[in-house]
Amino acid sequence: MGHSSAQNVFVVKHPLVRHKLTRLREKTTSTAGFRRLVRELSLLLAYEATRDLKLEPVTIETPLETMEGEQLSGKKLCFVSILRAGNGILDGMLDLVPSARIGQIGLFRDPETLEAVEYYMKLPEDIASRECIAVDPMLATGHSAVAAIDRLKKAGCENITFVCILATPEGVDCLTSAHPDVRIITCHIDTGLDDHGYIRPGLGDAGDRLFGTK
Ligand code: URA
Repeated sequence: MGHSSAQNVFVVKHPLVRHKLTRLREKTTSTAGFRRLVRELSLLLAYEATRDLKLEPVTIETPLETMEGEQLSGKKLCFVSILRAGNGILDGMLDLVPSARIGQIGLFRDPETLEAVEYYMKLPEDIASRECIAVDPMLATGHSAVAAIDRLKKAGCENITFVCILATPEGVDCLTSAHPDVRIITCHIDTGLDDHGYIRPGLGDAGDRLFGTK
C-alpha cells in the first residue's frame, strides 16, 4: 500500500487490485462483471482498511496440543454505505467481516443551495462504540463524503475510515480539510472531474453500472 502526498491517504497498489480496476473501468464490462469486480475489490480494500485492528492472545486446543493463538479484540466494526452506490461495496466487505454492523446514509444535492440534504439515515444504536468504515465507490467532489462523516461524528463515532474505489485530488482535498483525522483508502487517484462531476478517466456512473439502471 502506498502513502499518497496527503498524509492520511493510502493507495492500494497490489497487482490484483490494479488488474481488476482496469477491467472495472472498461466500458464493455457487463453489469454482472462489474458487480463481481466491485465485490472482489471491496474485499481487498477491506483487507487494507482492517490492517490495524487490535488483537489479544487466546489459549486454544489444536487436535495435537494447547497453544497460544490470537483473536480480534477491542472495538467492533460498522460499515456505513453512502447510498446508493455504497451498497455495492458492502457484499465484498461482509465476505471478510461477516459480523460487521451496517449503517446507511442517503444524501442528495439541493439544486438551489448545492448543500447535501439527508433523505435517509439508519445507523446501529451502538455506533459510537464501533470503528466505522464509510464506503462509496467514488470520491468525486467530496461533498457527500464530508456530509456523511459529519453525521457519523454527530452520532459519536471517533474512529472513521473512508474507503472508495476511485478518488480525485479535489475530493481528497475536500475530505481531508474537513476531516483531517479520517483515513482514506482507495485503489487510485484519478486526474480530476469533468463539467458534469464525473471522475476522469473514471469508470462512469458507479450506481448505474452496479444496478444496471442505464
Ligand atoms: N459518481 C459516479 O458514479 N461516477 C463519477 O464519475 C463521479 C461520481
